[in-house]
Amino acid sequence: MVKNNPIGIFDSGVGGSSIWQEIYKLLPLEHTIYLADSKNAPYGNKSAEEITKLSIKNTEKLIEMGAKIIVVACNTATTNSISTLRKKYNIPIIGIEPAIKPAALQTTTKSIGILATKGTLSSALFSKTTQEFTKDINVVEIIGEGLVPLIEAGNLDGIEMHSLLQKHTKPMIAANIDYLVLGCSHYPYIIPKLKDILPPNVKIIDSGEAVARQTKTVLQSLDMLRKENTPPNLQFFTNAETDTLKFLLKEHAEKISVEKKDF
Ligand code: SIN
Repeated sequence: MVKNNPIGIFDSGVGGSSIWQEIYKLLPLEHTIYLADSKNAPYGNKSAEEITKLSIKNTEKLIEMGAKIIVVACNTATTNSISTLRKKYNIPIIGIEPAIKPAALQTTTKSIGILATKGTLSSALFSKTTQEFTKDINVVEIIGEGLVPLIEAGNLDGIEMHSLLQKHTKPMIAANIDYLVLGCSHYPYIIPKLKDILPPNVKIIDSGEAVARQTKTVLQSLDMLRKENTPPNLQFFTNAETDTLKFLLKEHAEKISVEKKDF
């Protein structure tokens, strides 16, 4: 019965679990399977071909595991491979894109910052969205070099993270941004650190909630929401060590399973 099948979610690693948390908040009865491709993280500096190959591998694994919908919880994978995935598979596929439009509509300083990977910032999909919504706005695009490996290692608030964030936000602060758009699903985990460094008027937006809403809308429109009221299976698989996923999801420890698996 498709309604009772899981939502399949994948990311280059642990970061997409920030998206899983939003999906779980909105759809607490849905079974979920999350794949963390941490063995191949980060995706951000890989070529579009490599990213697409990895995205296909993850999608096929999730389909094999019974997923009724795929959530690409990785900005780099979405911007580089979602159109290929949608053409290749006959299953709904949700992606994540930086929330440029809301930031561009709400900025009063007419200056916004975007922190994302090289793979996302150099993609055609990202350029198209940016050009469409930021015509009269100064956009400071910064590659979050070094951030994903630190988050993958669970180092969210050491000195190394602090100095990297100081370096990455310096040009944004100099440009008087009032919105910072997070363009990588790993980055919501460093929002507290970013808030310590950015001026208090800067608002930080990520796309987690929007992805969860879109997932719900699509499942609803296809009459594919789970109707049973029993607790869901919430499974996490990583092809590297389980420690960081367990640490990031510690508040859900009682309800989830986290296992190492080759895929
Ligand atoms: C990465 O693997 O480099 C980052 C993943 C993302 O863009 O969300």
